[in-house]
Amino acid sequence: MAKLNVNGEEQEFNAAPDTPLLWVLREQLGLTGTKYGCGVAQCGACTVHVDGAAVRSCVMPLRALKETQQVVTIEGLSRNGTHAVQRAWQLLDVPQCGFCQSGMIMAVSALLKDKPNPTDADIDASITNICRCGTYNRVRAAIKVAAQGVTRRRVSAADDLQTTDGSLS
Ligand code: FES
Ligand code: FES
Repeated sequence: MAKLNVNGEEQEFNAAPDTPLLWVLREQLGLTGTKYGCGVAQCGACTVHVDGAAVRSCVMPLRALKETQQVVTIEGLSRNGTHAVQRAWQLLDVPQCGFCQSGMIMAVSALLKDKPNPTDADIDASITNICRCGTYNRVRAAIKVAAQGVTRRRVSAADDLQTTDGSLS
């Protein structure tokens, strides 16, 4: 029996040590918001957070993870979809078909945690996710909108008291 902490809860499941994290999330835990695109770390559709860092879960074997590490998927990014990045995505209607977007949002939320005001060069370097629908311009615009929200939150002690997950109240 393997164990992982996913979205703040300890989970137990049966899986071989070389099983990619993506398949544990989707097949064992039913967290299907994380998508399979390429399977070879190229497209980013499978992006989740491990201890706050963006990780392409299709190429992360279970054996590479410790039970104490915190895995967060799109389902656990915020309460009620209120993370600053999710709000910016809604505001600008970023998704087209939507398939790539959970991975895109997870990659962007990890970037903004490290760099609350990313430059275009920062975005180009970090957000290498592929969108077959070509939503790149809206993604970039929404990152700028989300960055304003993240920055507001960081200077607002009241928000920090109310939320712990990046949500904006
Ligand atoms: S499915 Fe993991 S990077 Fe494409
Ligand atoms: S919105 Fe369709 S692949 Fe990105």
